[in-house]
Amino acid sequence: MRLFKTIAEIRAFRQECYRQGKTVALVPTMGYLHEGHLSLARAARKDCDVVVMSIFVNPTQFGPNEDFERYPRDLDRDLRLAEEAGVEAVFAPEVKEMYPPGYATYVEVERLTEHLCGRSRPGHFRGVATVVSKLFNIVQPDKAYFGQKDYQQSVVIRRMVADLNFPLEIVVVPTVRDADGLALSSRNKYLSPLERRSALSLYRALLKGEALIREGERRAGVVRRAMEEVILASPGTKIDYVAVSDAETLEPLEEIKGKAVLALAVWVGSTRLIDNLLVEV
Ligand code: PAF
Repeated sequence: MRLFKTIAEIRAFRQECYRQGKTVALVPTMGYLHEGHLSLARAARKDCDVVVMSIFVNPTQFGPNEDFERYPRDLDRDLRLAEEAGVEAVFAPEVKEMYPPGYATYVEVERLTEHLCGRSRPGHFRGVATVVSKLFNIVQPDKAYFGQKDYQQSVVIRRMVADLNFPLEIVVVPTVRDADGLALSSRNKYLSPLERRSALSLYRALLKGEALIREGERRAGVVRRAMEEVILASPGTKIDYVAVSDAETLEPLEEIKGKAVLALAVWVGSTRLIDNLLVEV
């Protein structure tokens, strides 16, 4: 496996792939890899000849009081795991390679970013859309892989790809969970054993919402409140949002119909976790 730190190097690698007629997959990550990231790499491996993974903790998607500085990093471990998952090349640039002095260009996706995480993390999706656009331009992949755990992110990126005519396909891969249901996230590392137990309420709340809908409940407010109750019953939790939204527009629903997403963000101690489930009625 090869490690590239500069844009010029990964571009030269991409040119080599073009010359050899190889298709290229991109798996964008912020590192501290877990089974969720590796499932993206394995899916990419099945579809394309070459898998490129980017590992870059992107400062522009963190707010001023968020965890950019303390976000977990372990490049050596990541390189080992990426290689085992069939990644051919890792692109791990420094911040100044991606955002040199004088950097002034950002990508804004409207409307979709006003809901859910966009409300509590202003500027977050602007940072995500910007760095993902840059990665697409740098690596020029045929396909790019994202996890469903960041559902809103996947919807925003699909919109951006369509609107800005990026010539690539977005593939969204199902959330990977621990045996007890907790969605894998690099931020789970912050949780104490007690907090980890409380964090299980996120998935339990989603399952409760899904069960109510399966039993015929169509009032989004009733489903939302039932989900909130499950979370609040767990010690040390604080709800950021619990939403029942249209799966495409992300607008909040009153009546559940068509494709909907049950989505939530919850503080467990000082860690903000997100999760979601798609439902169709
Ligand atoms: O999902 C993530 O890890 C990040 O938001 C991404 C897509 C790598 C952009 O920094």
